[in-house]
Amino acid sequence: MTACRTCRCTLLLVLLGAVAGTAAAAPPPASASPDPPHGELLYRRHCVACHGGQAWGDGPREIPALAGQSEAYLIEQLTRFASDARPGSVMHGPAMHDTLKATDVNRATAIGDLAAYLARAPAAPHAEQGRGRSLDVGRSAYSRACAGCHGEDGAGRDGATPRIGGQHFRYLLSRLREFGATHRGLVETPALPAQEQQPLADYVSRLPGGGTP
Ligand code: HEC
Ligand code: HEC
Repeated sequence: MTACRTCRCTLLLVLLGAVAGTAAAAPPPASASPDPPHGELLYRRHCVACHGGQAWGDGPREIPALAGQSEAYLIEQLTRFASDARPGSVMHGPAMHDTLKATDVNRATAIGDLAAYLARAPAAPHAEQGRGRSLDVGRSAYSRACAGCHGEDGAGRDGATPRIGGQHFRYLLSRLREFGATHRGLVETPALPAQEQQPLADYVSRLPGGGTP
């Protein structure tokens, strides 16, 4: 199992490197000294209407919670959204993409400041959850197919693998439906039967995700 995890991790890094190299030119260097208060200012100006006053997202609208997410992962995603390498969901992806075109946010330093603010913000205390049926199915699917990378508590790993524990149920479910056998074409994951998606998203929404940083 250990060897297997190691080998997946290596594959992942190679794939992420390849994508960053082709689609988004070079990944932006994380700012040497990010400025979280400036990130908060940008957040209030450009993001608050959708992601909410405390960056806790909105379950019914499938808008993810961002507070407490891994800083490196946030930088990577914002860079990909800004360059169109990640198009985003049909309803909100284009609107969000336009948001990131403003000259004060579409810069490596601004993205670094935003990520620094969000990563340090207290995580949402309660995620939107599913109906609580078949949580045992969700638990065993998670241990089998996800925990090796995202961690038993859903806290993520080494920056690039995001925290997913405590994320909103409907957002998780729509990501699982979109992903199929790979995550955005980046990471190969074990096959997941369709009937396991709902219990799995429900189970993950209840995981602590490492708690508030
Ligand atoms: C019009 C509403 C809207 C606005 C404005 C918006 N977002 Fe989003 N954002 C979304 C939705 C919906 C998703 C999830 C669907 C997707 O992937 O497109 C999302 C996804 C994200 C993600 C990916 C989360 C993940 O876990 O992969 C990040 C990061 C993010 N937004 C940050 C921001 C930041 C920072 C801003 C402001 C600069 C912003 N968003 C503005 C609606 C919005
Ligand atoms: C091989 C390691 C690996 C495995 C196995 C894996 N993931 Fe991931 N997951 C990742 C990485 C890396 C990312 C970030 C991808 C990116 O940068 O777009 C990710 C992203 C995600 C996201 C997107 C987060 C967001 O907010 O948009 C979700 C949701 C997710 N994984 C859920 C799962 C679930 C559920 C499973 C089990 C079925 C799983 N993952 C299995 C590595 C893995």
